[in-house]
Formats: sequence, structure tokens, C-alpha cells
Amino acid sequence: MSSTASTSTVIVTPHEGACGATITGVRLAELAELAELAKPAELAKPAEPADRAEPDERFAVVLDAWHTYGVIAFPGQHLDEEAHAAFSRRLGRLENTNLRERDPQRQPTTITLANINRRGELVADPEHKLNKFLQGNQHWHSDSSFKRISAKASMLRAIEVPTEGGETEYADMRAAYDALDGATKRRIEGLVVVHSAAYSQHAAMGTETPLHPDEERNLPPVRQPLVRVHEPTGRRSLFIGRHARSIDGMDDAAARALLDELLDAACRPPRTYAHRWAAGDAVLWDNRCMLHRGRPWDFSQARVMRRTTVAGDPPPGDRNEWAL
Ligand code: OGA
Ligand code: MN
Repeated sequence: MSSTASTSTVIVTPHEGACGATITGVRLAELAELAELAKPAELAKPAEPADRAEPDERFAVVLDAWHTYGVIAFPGQHLDEEAHAAFSRRLGRLENTNLRERDPQRQPTTITLANINRRGELVADPEHKLNKFLQGNQHWHSDSSFKRISAKASMLRAIEVPTEGGETEYADMRAAYDALDGATKRRIEGLVVVHSAAYSQHAAMGTETPLHPDEERNLPPVRQPLVRVHEPTGRRSLFIGRHARSIDGMDDAAARALLDELLDAACRPPRTYAHRWAAGDAVLWDNRCMLHRGRPWDFSQARVMRRTTVAGDPPPGDRNEWAL
């Protein structure tokens, strides 16, 4: 990572409607480099060098916009692997996304989402396991909502994109909550939803035993509040999506109907934003208050994306077993 001092101003442009913003005028790699420098010994130094203050202010602008808008598009960043991970780490510890193995020493910090196999060959068949997995992501979800402490953030960057389709769409669940009528708000307050990876993978893959036995062991169903407070803004938000299986104390059919109804009402304009990717773009979203889904594309064209996931903060006295 090179460090060119920049005097540019961060430009935050809110999207039309009520979902997300686009930020230009900042190089994330440059902000990420500060995180690399901010080792404990550095942090202990009393005075902030003058040339540091300005980038830190720019990071504060980015962070504030991210909290407010929920999803931020950063066009043309062309982040490398290292800068992608380093910038993501400014938001918190990265999450182990290997569901089979929790050994922090052995975890990659970014994952690939692509219709390309390990040998680097294009996988065009929509029925291939790899593409079934990608199609699972085409249903509204919050990353890792099936984990006890679900993810805080995800950052996706595009390496290769199809000529058409393959957008990623976002929906703001705080705005969705605000749009509910009073009776619905009262009805759902305090409800507890069971999220399960086995459930959503079964729905996506259509197989009876969708999880590897190690995944099954690491990912028992978890309970999440249906209405959750987004800590940075204090706003109420719906925590739903494809991993939501059932609701405590409600029969499965009634729960399914309620979850489907809420999801359907939530993910509509003006609360949505579809990011049309260009190679080099990065998009950062807040999984605590946003849902997202991939949009279909023709699998005979390659789409190669890399993602980091920032682990959710544990409540006081707890720890996140998925944080690296
Ligand atoms: C993700 C995801 C959808 C897409 O990266 O978490 O769901 O558009 N991606 O690739
Ligand atoms: Mn996702």
C-alpha cells in the first residue's frame, strides 16, 4: 500500500430514496494503512502527528455516513487483498467465515464469491453446487444471522463482473420498521426468531443434509430478537431474512406467514438500493440494520467478488467465538 497524502474532501452523496450513499474523494487503502500503523505501541504515543489527523477525520466522516446510511458504495477503489482486510479491520475484528473450522490461525480473512471453481474454470451450469450456493445469496439476508453473535459489517469488492445483472441490492430495515403501522409494531415487539443455517441451506440447496457435520456442530439454531436496536443510531430495526426459520411460541405456519409478510413489506422502494457493479468498486454495509441480496446473472459469464466480514461485538462479559 502506498501512502500519498491527500488533501481531497470526502464527498457523501445519499442515494435517491432512503437507502445508502456513495462516497468519493477518499482512498480507502490510505485510511486502511493508518489501521496498520495503529499498533498498541503507536497508540500509546501521546501526540497525534499532524499528517495523521486529517485522514482520521476522513475516516470519521466515512464511519458516520456508514452508520447513518447503512450501505456505502465506494466506486473505483481497486483495493488489494491486504487493504481490503486492513480497512475492514478498522470497524472491528474480522469474522471467521469458515463454518467447519474455528481455528483462528488457519482462517482466511476474505472469501471469494464467484462462479469459478478451484481450478479457475468458469462454472456455467446453474444446477452446479457452487452456483446453487450463489443463488442462495439471491434471497434477502443479513450475513451470519445464523450465528449466536451475528456479523456487524460486510465489505464486498468486485474483481470481474458480468455485462448485465449481478447487482447487489440492499434494503434498510430501520426504515422498514418505521414504515410499519402501530398495531404491527406492538405485535412484533419482544418476539424472538430462530435463525438456522441448516434451514436456509436446505431451502437453497434442496438437499436433506445441507450442512457438513462440522458445520452442523458449529452452527446450532440461534435466537435473535425480531426487533433490534441499531446501536450507533438508536433506531429500531427488523432482523429478518432467509436464515429466519421460526418464532418462539408461535406455530410454524403462523411464524412463516408473519416473517414472509414482514420481509415482503420491508424490501421495497424507497428503502432499497441496487448497486450496479464495476470492477474495482467496494461496498460496505451494516448487517445489523440492512438486508441484502444478489441479483441473478447469466452464469456463462464470470462474476468474481471478494468479501470480508466484520464480527459482531459481543455484549459486555461475553465473547464472540467467530471473531479472529
Ligand atoms: C454477500 C452476498 C451477494 C452478491 O457477499 O454476502 O450476499 O451480490 N453477496 O454477490
Ligand atoms: Mn450475503
